[in-house]
Amino acid sequence: MVNSTVCSKLRNFEVKADGICQPMENPSMSLDEFPCHSPYYFSRFLNDLDCLVESTSDDLEIIRIATILTRRFLSEASWIINMCPEPDPETFSAIHPLYRDPNCPFEVHVFSWLPQNSGVHSHGSWSIVAILGDASNGRELNYFWSRFDDEKKDGYAIVKPVSKQMLEPGDIIGFTSDAIHNIKSLSAENEPNPNHPKPTLMFNIFGKRNPSGRYMFNPFENTFTNY
Ligand SMILES: [Fe+2]
Repeated sequence: MVNSTVCSKLRNFEVKADGICQPMENPSMSLDEFPCHSPYYFSRFLNDLDCLVESTSDDLEIIRIATILTRRFLSEASWIINMCPEPDPETFSAIHPLYRDPNCPFEVHVFSWLPQNSGVHSHGSWSIVAILGDASNGRELNYFWSRFDDEKKDGYAIVKPVSKQMLEPGDIIGFTSDAIHNIKSLSAENEPNPNHPKPTLMFNIFGKRNPSGRYMFNPFENTFTNY
C-alpha cells in the first residue's frame, strides 16, 4: 500500500480531438442538480456521476462536471490513495477496480505504474484522469495528437502530435471520446532513489466501454487497430 495525500495544487485540463490541451472551461449546465454533500461518500459520488450521464450525452459537459465532482470527492477521500496497488514486477503497472457494473455507463478504477511509455491511443469514451499523491510520486508527460486524414479508409489514419503537458500529482485531465494521446510516465522530478522510484498513481473514470471506437495508432505506418 502507498501512503500519501492528495496534493493541493489544482490544475484541470481538457483535450478534444484537435489535440489542443487547455485549461478546463466551466460547464454550461447548471450545477443545481449536484449540490455539495458532506460527507461526500463514494456512493454519493457514484450517484452524482449516474445523474450526470443521464442528463447529458455531451462529452465536454460530462468531463467538466465530472471534474468538479471528482475534486469534491478526492478532497474528502484520503483513503483512495491507499487503494492504489503496488505495480506488478513484470509489467511495472497494476490496476484496481473501484466500481464496475456492466449495466452502468461508467467505471472507476485506480492505476499505478512505474516509468514506461504507452502507445498512441484513444479511449473511445469520455474519461477523467486524476493524478494522485504528492511531489514524491511519479508524474506523466502526455503528448496529444490529432487525426489529419478524412477518416474514410478502414485502418488508416494520419496522426500528428499537437501539444503536450506534464501532469503532476494533483492535476486532473478530461478527455473527450475521440481525444488521442500517449504517455511517458516519469519518476518524481527530485526522486531520491532513481532505481526504485515511487509510482505514478491515477484515479480514473471511464465512460461506457466502446471497444469499436477505441483505437491504438501506429503513427509511423499510418495505421490503427482496435484494442
Ligand atoms: Fe489513455
